[in-house]
Amino acid sequence: MSLSTICLPIQSELRDVETVLSEKVSSPVELVSTAANYILQNGGKRIRPALLLLTAKMLGLKVSNAVPFGAAIEMIHAASLMHDDVLDNARLRRGKQSSNAKWGNQISILVGDFLWCRASSIAISNGNMKILQAVTEAVEKTTEGEILEIVRCNDFNITQEDYLNIISLKTAMLFACSCRVGAILAGASEKFEAALKNYGLNLGVAFQLTDDILDYTASEERFGKKAGTDMCEGRLTLPVILALDRCNSNETGTIKDLLLANSLDNARLCEIKNILNKYGTIEASFDAARKFASLAKDELVHFKPSLEKDSLIALADHSVSRSV
Ligand code: FPP
Ligand code: MG
Repeated sequence: MSLSTICLPIQSELRDVETVLSEKVSSPVELVSTAANYILQNGGKRIRPALLLLTAKMLGLKVSNAVPFGAAIEMIHAASLMHDDVLDNARLRRGKQSSNAKWGNQISILVGDFLWCRASSIAISNGNMKILQAVTEAVEKTTEGEILEIVRCNDFNITQEDYLNIISLKTAMLFACSCRVGAILAGASEKFEAALKNYGLNLGVAFQLTDDILDYTASEERFGKKAGTDMCEGRLTLPVILALDRCNSNETGTIKDLLLANSLDNARLCEIKNILNKYGTIEASFDAARKFASLAKDELVHFKPSLEKDSLIALADHSVSRSV
């Protein structure tokens, strides 16, 4: 099912999220609004606001009340991407020049900070401190994930567990937070809040696993960034971690050489893809992603049937079958 079909139950609220996003980035400093709008209008899929709105609506909330919080989560996501592109020295984001390539690192860091502050002011706007707590916890964990990823760069001893911990922190925590805030806004019980948090966590892991597979398999035109970027940055993701477990010492040497080369031409990328294909590690990584999508869906058994629940189930399937 396409993402737009999945989002049909919250279509008009997602449009309202767009309005809030453009209102909330206004600033007397023109460059702030320009750079914030640039990242926010850069083809983001709005998965996190969709999660927040779908969970809130599934639990019976009049979902227009949740719209500003959906916008806040998207602003935090945008802030994290601005910072991430600085950390990675990325030149492309979603097929367009990254903010840092356009305005430099200083502006990207500071506009990211601005977005995070504006998002925080929305998070405290209804006086429910549980929302601010959920959001700050998620950002704290996201940051820890990014730090761990940097620490484990080019580390060939990294295990599957280490990798899964990193992606749970750096990506899945914000997915979990989106669902959790939807639940808090709807006044859900602790049991429901925890189930939705776990749904988001497993969905986020499935999503990042797929992202890391697409880094090897997708074309630059579709994926919006250069293939093999993770490898180029010394980032060992599941397809490579599994290959290192399975391959012979010559092939281990080839993988290590390529990772440490810090540059990746097409011939080199082909070489590594041959090793991944030989040992079936792309398919094995997809199996892992599907397992997490299935765990996400299991958390939804607690909820009665609804259109929104169907969409949350479809989103788990979509997260592992997408091509972008
Ligand atoms: C993209 O992942 C980046 C993230 C999932 C998280 C980035 C988080 C931070 C920089 C922490 C700071 C947070 C805030 C809110 C300011 P990726 O690098 O795997 O994907 P990519 O290939 O699209 O860059
Ligand atoms: Mg990155």
